[in-house]
This record gives sequence, structure tokens and C-alpha cells, in this order.
Amino acid sequence: MLEKSELFSQEIIKKLQAWELRYPKDQKRSVILPGLHVLQDEHGGFLTTELMDKLALYLDVPAPSVYEVATFYSMYDLEKVGRHKLNVCTNVSCMLNGAKKIVSHIEDKLGIKAGETTEDGRITLRSVECQGACCGAPMLEVDKVFYENLTIEKVDQIIDSLE
Ligand code: FES
Repeated sequence: MLEKSELFSQEIIKKLQAWELRYPKDQKRSVILPGLHVLQDEHGGFLTTELMDKLALYLDVPAPSVYEVATFYSMYDLEKVGRHKLNVCTNVSCMLNGAKKIVSHIEDKLGIKAGETTEDGRITLRSVECQGACCGAPMLEVDKVFYENLTIEKVDQIIDSLE
């Protein structure tokens, strides 16, 4: 069996250790959520079964405990994604403030539907549930940065500025 130090790079292990320090030693499951973020960020924005299994080994928790977190939250991707992730909230406040129009505009602009990735691998577009930024509806999250009070012009500027 692999030693903990052989599971991930030193850089990843340092980041995981920083999270481990935030929780009681007997509460390793608490590190699953931030640990998955660390691994996803270091792996082109998506997780694989191998990475989840390694995290389970690293934290000494059952693999299904890691799978259930990774499959429950929409912030984790289990398939290859674009270099940029665009998440448009289409929940109530955002919907009432024009989110559907924004999704349609982005779909037309990029030539994809929500849930898809552009052919060049540049952008993955998704329509997501409430992101807790209802006061700034309609909103869009791009690579973990929130943009609020969107207009079509603002959306165009944001997308055009992405590499
Ligand atoms: S409904 Fe869109 S952020 Fe809450």
C-alpha cells in the first residue's frame, strides 16, 4: 500500500495538511470537501475516481464517503471541463431578473447548450441553483469569481476577456 506521502505531490499534500489543521484529528471526513477542491483545482478543474480513491486513502475514510460528496455538490466536476467554468444561476431571484435571457445569450454566443463545453475546450457553461448572491441577481460565477447585476453587455465583456 502507498504511503500518504506517495499519494500526491508535495504541493498538494501541503494544501491538504493546511485543511487538516482546521479540524479535530478525529474528524477527517470534514476535510473531504476542501480536499476535493484542492484536487480538482490541481487537475484541470475536474475529478477522477482515481483522485477520489487517493483522497479516501489519504484521509483514511471509506471511498464512498468521498464519492457521495463529489457527486452531491454541483461545484465538483467528474468529467473533463473547459478552461473556464461559467455557472449562471437560474434559481428564483435570478430567474425573475432575467437569468434565462442570459443563459440563452451565452448559448447563442458560444454555440453550445448549458451543460456543454465549447469545441476548443475554452468554456463550460452551466445553469446552476442559487449561489447565495440573490441580492445581486442575476448573477454568474466564472472560475469562482461572482459577477452580479448582470446585463447582456456585461456578460459579453466578461466572456470576451477570458483567454
Ligand atoms: S437565486 Fe441566484 S443567487 Fe440566489
